[in-house]
Amino acid sequence: MENVTFHDHKPRALSLYDAVVSGLSRSDKSIPPKFFYDQRGSELFDRICEQPEYYLPTVECRMLAELAGEIATLTGTGRVLIEPGAGSASKVRLLLDALRPSAFVPMDISFDYLKSSARDLALEYPWLPIHAACVDFTHSLPVPREVPDGPRLLFFPGSSLGNFNPGEAGRFLRLVHRTLGDRGMMLIGVDTKKSEGVLNAAYNDAAGLTADFNLNLLQRMQQELDADIDPDVFEHLAFYNSDKGRIEMHLVSTREQTLRLNGHRFDFKEGERLHTENSYKYSPAEFIGLATENGFSEVRHWVDDDGLFAVYLVGAV
Ligand code: AVJ
Repeated sequence: MENVTFHDHKPRALSLYDAVVSGLSRSDKSIPPKFFYDQRGSELFDRICEQPEYYLPTVECRMLAELAGEIATLTGTGRVLIEPGAGSASKVRLLLDALRPSAFVPMDISFDYLKSSARDLALEYPWLPIHAACVDFTHSLPVPREVPDGPRLLFFPGSSLGNFNPGEAGRFLRLVHRTLGDRGMMLIGVDTKKSEGVLNAAYNDAAGLTADFNLNLLQRMQQELDADIDPDVFEHLAFYNSDKGRIEMHLVSTREQTLRLNGHRFDFKEGERLHTENSYKYSPAEFIGLATENGFSEVRHWVDDDGLFAVYLVGAV
């Protein structure tokens, strides 16, 4: 395959060990959600996306398929397309024929997973130069040097922005702004605020995949860090916190226990929570406000008929 190259930016901020030790040393124990995504976690996430309760990808994909032509009219063709957290790169396939980018730069924290999905994409789109980069996008957005000049379009679907708290989200948007440069645009999918019943069901699917995804973090600690821990005494907890406008995910210790890791001891009380993820939800006015405060202006936005999900096209000013 001649149209795919790989770039390892060896994200420095990527040590699971450091994150676990510092995250469990706090009184409010927490670990950042990027540590969900080893190979197994990435695969579990793909299966979450097939669950009927987890409406986000279904609605967003329907919107992107329908809007591809209109989006291409607004962005023009021939841009360098960059996708942080591309994973299986399934959504970008809905846009490639319409957008006809000059190159595609998928970035992901899980390099093995990214390599296989970029190879598949390169076979399917022989006309498309692909520069796959192992990147921790919470940290930086390094674009490989080989990427052609020309206006850029950053694609950030799936409501990944929701993992940032509002301050971090602003910082990320400014990082995107710097990465885009002149005439840059961003196409971003963001989950909306809606009925709590719908939100709670989306993070508590009946098949239990979101629970497995959450609990996978404990398996990683066991397998990669040799932590002495019993995953069976933790339970998945996910709920909408309406004050903060976010879904929260936690692992709850069902009894008092001590987790041992390389000479460290971390005590859990019965019922104590390890906070593993926030997923902020934005009304269109809230998101446009955030984007405007951080260097972008709205080109257009679309909300699906049921108000479940929104897609925004914004331009760097
Ligand atoms: C990938 C961050 C958008 O918050 O909805 C899905 C991750 N966590 N189910 C989300 C997730 C539990 C997802 N994001």
